[in-house]
Amino acid sequence: MTAAFAVTVALRRSLSLTPASAVRGTLTVPGDKSISHRYVMLGGAASGTTAITNLAPGADVASTVACIAALGARIDPQGPNALAIAGLGAAGFRQPGAPLDAGNSGTTLRLLSGLVASQPIRVSLVGDESLSRRPMQRIIDPLSAMGARITSANGCSPLVIEGGALQAIDWHVPVASAQVKSAILLAGLGARGTTIVREPLLTRDHTERAFPAFGLRVRTEGTISSVDGGQTPVAPAGTLAVPGDPSSAAVWAAAAAALPGSRVRIEGVLLNPHRLGFLRALERMGARINSEITGETGGEPIGSLDIVHDDHLPTVIEAEEVPSLIDELPVLAARAALGGALEVSGAGELRVKESDRITALVTGLRQMGVPADERPDGFVVDGRVRPTGGEVDAAGDHRLVMAFALVALGATGPTTITGAHAVGVSYPSFEQDLARLVP
Ligand code: S3P
Repeated sequence: MTAAFAVTVALRRSLSLTPASAVRGTLTVPGDKSISHRYVMLGGAASGTTAITNLAPGADVASTVACIAALGARIDPQGPNALAIAGLGAAGFRQPGAPLDAGNSGTTLRLLSGLVASQPIRVSLVGDESLSRRPMQRIIDPLSAMGARITSANGCSPLVIEGGALQAIDWHVPVASAQVKSAILLAGLGARGTTIVREPLLTRDHTERAFPAFGLRVRTEGTISSVDGGQTPVAPAGTLAVPGDPSSAAVWAAAAAALPGSRVRIEGVLLNPHRLGFLRALERMGARINSEITGETGGEPIGSLDIVHDDHLPTVIEAEEVPSLIDELPVLAARAALGGALEVSGAGELRVKESDRITALVTGLRQMGVPADERPDGFVVDGRVRPTGGEVDAAGDHRLVMAFALVALGATGPTTITGAHAVGVSYPSFEQDLARLVP
């Protein structure tokens, strides 16, 4: 099964790019990664069969699919990026025979931990080298407070979770993290009582929007979400179509914003406001953007984006805005490297993503001739001199591949990105789409 869903595009380890004067065209981007993870997990836990189309095609969601299959759900491929998942429902997940491998995916490891915590099974969760360095104490604490028994390697994976009867909690999440919020809400579905999650800042709300699609009740008031325990998801009657991923769209939007004479239109993309901080930042940096909501799917708004360059303006991004553009900060830095300037603070979470995205980003930008500096919780980029290009290392991080590719388009000379195959984590067809927009 999983082989049929595995990432089939052979990705090259290094990507060589030459400068381009503009990007032009209309495209759709792959399905949203965050929503795909949630639909696959809820589908695996649901009673009935969940049909999903336009799933994110990258390695991260393939990891979630493999884990859900290992927990006993039957998964039938239904064509490219489409699946039917026969969920376990009230019967619950089965004891897996081997550790569940989340690969490079923090969302897989954290959300699955919450999902399995209320089940009477013992689950080991492992990840690749990068994921094994990322902080898990943020989910271990609340899930342990609910009654799950969890052992870890000093707050990191491998995790061993012995699930069972859980008690609801009222939890203040210390970091703004949709993954932590979602892990607690998923565990709360199987807990006794009402589980309440309080966040320091609003984060993406895909779990809260997906719950009603699976017949689950959830309440949200500002930064507080709650669920009653004793709820089993029910497979939706129709097919769930995943909207295009705005985090993948962001690189083309930023390219159009940076390069005069560009015009990019992206259709079928998720327009959830919690994910669109990058559009507001690009506008402040000098882009003209038109967004139009054309419909709704699974409780999520979907529509089109049109982006053109207008100006190069210095821009500041501070803590309150960070959750709405956390994954897009590397491409926003790349946009600033091509004109204007960018100063980011309150984004210390970047240090615990797939790489230390502050050090790896600034190091890479400098390798390409961009004046950039680290801050403990952010960075500054000066876009007044044109980047030279050169050889740059993506540090095994998909978002950095896309960011450095954007800088390469506006550089004076050619660029080679090493470790470029990491882009397959979220956007395996990145190189093909780039070739379409830069003829
Ligand atoms: C995600 C939440 C964010 C984001 C990640 C996906 C999600 O992480 O950076 O790419 O799907 O919930 P945090 O929850 O760690 O902030």
